[in-house]
Amino acid sequence: MNIITSAKEMQSLVSEIRTSGKSIGFVPTMGYLHEGHQKLLNEARSHHDIVVLSIFVNPLQFGPNEDFDRYPRDIERDEKIAKEAGVDYIFYPTVQEMYPNDMSVKVMVTDRTDVLCGKSRPGHFDGVATVLTKLFHIVMPHKAYFGLKDAQQVAVVEGLVRDFNFPLEIVPVETVREEDGLAKSSRNVYLSEKERFEAKELYQSLLKGKELIENGEHNPAKVMEAVRKHIQEHTSGEIDYVEIYSYPELKKLEELKGKIILAIAVKFTKARLIDNVIINV
Ligand code: PAJ
Repeated sequence: MNIITSAKEMQSLVSEIRTSGKSIGFVPTMGYLHEGHQKLLNEARSHHDIVVLSIFVNPLQFGPNEDFDRYPRDIERDEKIAKEAGVDYIFYPTVQEMYPNDMSVKVMVTDRTDVLCGKSRPGHFDGVATVLTKLFHIVMPHKAYFGLKDAQQVAVVEGLVRDFNFPLEIVPVETVREEDGLAKSSRNVYLSEKERFEAKELYQSLLKGKELIENGEHNPAKVMEAVRKHIQEHTSGEIDYVEIYSYPELKKLEELKGKIILAIAVKFTKARLIDNVIINV
């Protein structure tokens, strides 16, 4: 496994790999790897000759009062996990390498950003789309693997790839959870012991909503209310949103039908956690 810090060097390496007819699977991350990231790496490993992992905490996707500075980082631990997962190259650039100058062009996401995390985190998806545009040009993958824990991100990135004709395929991967159902996240380390105990109720609230829908409840407001109530009764977290939309369009629904997403964001003292379930009604 090699660690590459220069974009130019990465590009010339992947150009050679592509010329030799080998396929490249890419997993973009912000590091502090956990089993969720590992699942993406395993998927990539089983489908490609070469697996590239990127680790880059992207300042462009963090708001001024968000956790860019204290986002957890541990490159030595990440290297070990990556090696075990059979990664061929880690692309690990500095902020200076990725953004040497103020950007003269940025990508702006114009659809699906007025809801969920797009609404709570203005500019977040512009930052994600901009860094991924750069990373896709640097890594030139045949396929890129993304987790459905960030289902809105998957929908936005599919739009980016389609609208800008990137010659690659996005592969969505199911959410990996702790034994008690909490979605794995680099930010879970910020939870106090009490909050960690409560946090399992986030997934329980989603399952409750799912069960209501499967039992015939077609009114989104009623489902959202039940989920909200469960979170309020079982956790000390502050609800950022509990929403239901069509998926992947992320349009509001009067009545639940087709493929839908039930998604939540809850703020604990030091961590804002998100989770969702996608349901075929
Ligand atoms: P990060 O939060 O590090 O996540 C990297 C990838 O891992 C994303 O595709 C995310 O959806 C996936 N992932 C995280 N937790 C998961 C879980 N519990 N189960 C399955 N997959 C999981 O998402 C980002 O980084 C950034 O926005 C990035 C795409 C790298 C752009 O900067």
